[in-house]
Amino acid sequence: MAVKKQIADYQQRADAILNRWLPSQATLPGRLHEAMRYSTFNGGKRIRPVLVYATGETLNVPREALDGPACAVELIHAYSLVHDDLPAMDDDDLRRGKPTCHRAFDEATAILAGDALQALAFYVLAHDHTIIDDPTRRIRMIEILAQASGSRGMAGGQAIDLGAVGKELTLAELEDMHIHKTGALIRASVKLGALSSSGCDHDQMERLDHYAKCIGLAFQIQDDILDVEGETEILGKAQGADLARNKPTYPALIGLAGAKQMARELHEQALDSLASFGKSADLLRWISTYIVTRNN
Ligand code: IPE
Ligand code: IPE
Ligand code: MG
Ligand code: MG
Ligand code: MG
Repeated sequence: MAVKKQIADYQQRADAILNRWLPSQATLPGRLHEAMRYSTFNGGKRIRPVLVYATGETLNVPREALDGPACAVELIHAYSLVHDDLPAMDDDDLRRGKPTCHRAFDEATAILAGDALQALAFYVLAHDHTIIDDPTRRIRMIEILAQASGSRGMAGGQAIDLGAVGKELTLAELEDMHIHKTGALIRASVKLGALSSSGCDHDQMERLDHYAKCIGLAFQIQDDILDVEGETEILGKAQGADLARNKPTYPALIGLAGAKQMARELHEQALDSLASFGKSADLLRWISTYIVTRNN
């Protein structure tokens, strides 16, 4: 299928760029670099870089201009997973079908690998020479990624998540948690793709941002659903981990059927936001469908 091939191309492209920016394990300190590579090249879906490329494709941005932002968002994501799995957080042993970073290495190395992956993301945005040749836009990209990663974005969402263990959240509180811990980085991926275009007007930016908000929330709802009805082997992470840890999730709060309904509605809203875009947005449409139908 043409779309599948296109996705595979973008995934490979993201892998090649990540490989170029990540120091080799022959570079000192070797064990830290090995842990960073281990946590990046272990079979992730690369949905965030693919979103950067798909948004760029919608706006006719050359692929080369998207490589830096695509790499940066995946580095932040890889860091977030390494820290998410730590004993102090979700205490998970399995990630992408392999031992989590702190299991394969040790806790201190996992903490440092996460720190260094995060720093590298911003280094790439600051240094990549293929990014649009406009310093103002480059600074704006750094600002957007910083905000999406920090206490008002992903890290803040993770804090809400950890503070909510064993508590009953309202639907609004749960939505707020998901929008931050997962939605923020997905939204930043689309924004960075859009910022790579010199011709994206305010209206287009707003529509793309609404699309991203919808799929970002849907993504975490589907993640919660898969924790209930996925299979460890396919997920590459332990099924039932949220339930075992009494985590607030959509299925726990509104039931499995309610969670699925909500994911479908968000998918519809995401498609509506793209209505004024032509065929060039087909990949974004496909990604929205994929997010609510995926099994890993
Ligand atoms: C998992 O993200 C963590 C969440 C934010 C739900 P992904 O499902 O994108 O993980 P990988 O990168 O494909 O392993
Ligand atoms: C993680 O959410 C969100 C991040 C910021 C990493 P989860 O804790 O649900 O992710 P998984 O299920 O471990 O991949
Ligand atoms: Mg977590
Ligand atoms: Mg987790
Ligand atoms: Mg989860």
